[in-house]
Amino acid sequence: MLLDKRNILLGVSGSIAACKSVDIARRLADEGADVSVVMTGAAQRFITPYLLEAVTGNPVHTDIFSDPFVHINLPKSSQLFIIAPATANTINKLSAGIADNLLCNMWLAYEGPVLIAPAMNYRMYRSGIVKKNIRELRKSGVQFVGPATGSLACGEEGTGRMADVPDIVEAAVSALTPKDLAGHHIMVTAGPTIEPIDPVRFISNRSSGKMGYAVALAAKRRGADVTLISGPTSLRAPEGVTLVRVEKASEMEAAVLDHLPKATCVIMAAAVSDFSPSSIARVKLRKRDVMSLNLKKNTDILKKIGSRKGRRILIGFAAESGMDVRSAGEKLKEKNLDMIVLNDISRKDAGFDADTNIVTLIDRKGDITEYPLMKKIEVAGIILDRMLQYHAAAGGR
Ligand code: CTP
Repeated sequence: MLLDKRNILLGVSGSIAACKSVDIARRLADEGADVSVVMTGAAQRFITPYLLEAVTGNPVHTDIFSDPFVHINLPKSSQLFIIAPATANTINKLSAGIADNLLCNMWLAYEGPVLIAPAMNYRMYRSGIVKKNIRELRKSGVQFVGPATGSLACGEEGTGRMADVPDIVEAAVSALTPKDLAGHHIMVTAGPTIEPIDPVRFISNRSSGKMGYAVALAAKRRGADVTLISGPTSLRAPEGVTLVRVEKASEMEAAVLDHLPKATCVIMAAAVSDFSPSSIARVKLRKRDVMSLNLKKNTDILKKIGSRKGRRILIGFAAESGMDVRSAGEKLKEKNLDMIVLNDISRKDAGFDADTNIVTLIDRKGDITEYPLMKKIEVAGIILDRMLQYHAAAGGR
């Protein structure tokens, strides 16, 4: 679990979005966090403390006079303070250091990382004083998630909606993840490529992009500067990652070469089409009883960058029908890689479109490590750990 044994303090202030704090608390608890809640008086006009007590299994704190030291002790034992939703009033008070309720007192006593999810009408959000106070808070190291743009509770449209709950939870996970990849520029490729036959048809493969997106997310959480070069997928790119969308293998090649000079590591998880039609029909082809398609071989992108590897770390994937270590090892040599991730695409719980994977890692020294069934995000973590090891072995350049 991503937040195992982490003590998180969740501050809830008075906005319609207070009802979403229940979902935030539940999701944090699902990830293993021990969540304590402090609510302002206004927040209690929207939802009852009892609801948050039921979800977290902890008493909810509301009254500054209920315990003489809770405003010191709870912040002292918390590793992250999330304020979601944070109203304009609460943001302004935090910035000014006004401590007229328990939440604001805890804020003053708290010394760890803080994450604020603002929620208010767009006119309030764009008011000069709120903007100034958000700027001040950012300067003092507070992280913000959102607000999002869209329809607001009052019926107007604009920027001021609290960020979506999964985005708040992701920001919390990221805030608590050590930044051991800071300073690394990681280029990740993901998804399939599609090769047009005519204006309506194309050749492609079953790659969902999940493995590459998981690597991009894990690297971003750990502080890397991430460029994600993605073929067509239905996935949403992680926040803060530079996304380059491509369709054809030739476009992926151009994008990879374009971003290569900056990359300290390339992780090539894309399922690049090996072939494309020799010519693309300009109009839709009419059906016939038998049809043949002339294909030409596409550039092997990884092999091409392997020949100009320099000092960067190169990691490839080997999609094999069966755990074919020998063939994966040959790909590693042929493409001049530091490591290849072998996955058996014939299994339902591994490879294409699954949320899990079973991999064997093979490196250029010939070390072979087999792993059991794992979530793709866990596989991503192991790949990045290896990348750091190779980097350190090469003198941490
Ligand atoms: N790859 C690439 N360019 C291609 C084909 C593959 O960069 N035109 C990369 C993939 O992203 C992957 C690695 O090479 O990281 C191995 O891909 P895979 O499909 O397993 O092997 P191929 O080299 O294409 O060989 P084969 O299809 O014959 O197994």
